[in-house]
Amino acid sequence: MAEIANPFRPGAGHYPPYLAGRDPEIEYFGKLLEQGPILENLVLTGLRGVGKTVLLDTFKPRAVGSGWLWAGADLSESSSVSESSLATRVLADLAVLTSGISVAPDRGASFGFAGELRPSDLAGSRLGYQTLVRIHNQTPGLASDRLKGVLELAWPHLARRGRRGVVFAYDEAQNLSDHAGKDEYPLAMLLDVFQSLQRKGLPLMLVLTGLPTLFPKLVEARTFSERMFHVMFLSRLNPAHSRKAVVKPIEDAAGPVRFDDASVDTICRVSGGYPYFIQFICREAFDVWIQRRPDDDMPSVPVDAIFRKLDSDFFSGRWAQATDRQRTLLRVIASLPGADDEFTVRQIVEASKRGDVTAKPFSGSHVHQMLASLIAAGLVYRNRHGRYSFAVPLLADYIRRQDAPLDGVEPPRA
Ligand SMILES: Nc1ncnc2c1ncn2[C@@H]1O[C@H](COP(=O)(O)OP(=O)(O)OP(=O)(O)O)[C@@H](O)[C@H]1O
Ligand SMILES: [Mg+2]
Repeated sequence: MAEIANPFRPGAGHYPPYLAGRDPEIEYFGKLLEQGPILENLVLTGLRGVGKTVLLDTFKPRAVGSGWLWAGADLSESSSVSESSLATRVLADLAVLTSGISVAPDRGASFGFAGELRPSDLAGSRLGYQTLVRIHNQTPGLASDRLKGVLELAWPHLARRGRRGVVFAYDEAQNLSDHAGKDEYPLAMLLDVFQSLQRKGLPLMLVLTGLPTLFPKLVEARTFSERMFHVMFLSRLNPAHSRKAVVKPIEDAAGPVRFDDASVDTICRVSGGYPYFIQFICREAFDVWIQRRPDDDMPSVPVDAIFRKLDSDFFSGRWAQATDRQRTLLRVIASLPGADDEFTVRQIVEASKRGDVTAKPFSGSHVHQMLASLIAAGLVYRNRHGRYSFAVPLLADYIRRQDAPLDGVEPPRA
């Protein structure tokens, strides 16, 4: 028998065989592309593995199809650490769009460009990365003035090519942070630059994607972020969309494998509707199904075995990064009735006093401090009402599984 290709794609940023349940978000993004002056930018946020990156990937061709240019990248920690490293990032992304353009003799200062660089200095040069950096470095003022200077100079050249605007799209933008101690404010710089250029009517739109810590960070850096961004919070798929995410790829593959109804129900239920888990469980289940023989009576979806694999592939790396004391705190949180939803410092303190998880209760200030480091590690986030939630879906279940008696291989007896 020819090998039957498994259509499912668990993995960060791997495009799913069928993108389920995101039509409202795609439609909303279409409306953002229709804006004249830019009044709304976009924050695309949600828990780990909920589908932010792949949704961002679907936005790009739509934007380009509507006459926009698209610039962007993943914001690694190193590119977000300082104002100059973030400016370098933005210039590098812009240069991809502008490097083919040469500056006409009379166009060096289309937008009141005022620096030591005279318009004639630029005439005839191409707006490649080096030129952009030169303009940046020779524009007087603060870091934000310099970046603004480059964007203001570059935009008219792009506009003359009939482009409607530029979308600057940054994934993993929760890595952006201001560091008062080091006097570095990259996040505030980015927000200032786009807000100011948009007020002047430049169609440069920001799309930032990241974990739920992202939006509170933006607001903390600049309160005007509240008005500047529309926040799309991607949630788990509802049961109907989960079903489609499971069934459609198999139908489209038109191969011999079909999950029966009970199996589809099981997958939808145990995945919680979280896209990464759907892909993961379906991929495993598919492999089991293609190896099944008609007389086999093994379970159609071996949930326990799949979850053991999921635990080691997805959760255990994150768990391993936590210190012993952090794990104790996470266990206390997992014991709360609201662990899957939201919880407060006070609830954690109270639960730790009960003594069923730890003999050493946590104080309020200690919990505050530890939650801050768990937020930095991307395990927890704080919502706008000051309550906390896990940033990793189904993490509480995983923690409870760790503490459940092992029913696996027994250690040898002495
Ligand atoms: N709407 C969807 N329908 C079906 N599968 C999806 C959907 N969205 C995402 N997936 C799948 O879920 C997995 C995670 O997607 P993605 O990497 O985009 O998530 P993410 O939110 O960016 O995660 P992270 O927080 O780790 O960056 C991928 O395997 C992808 O194929
Ligand atoms: Mg992602």
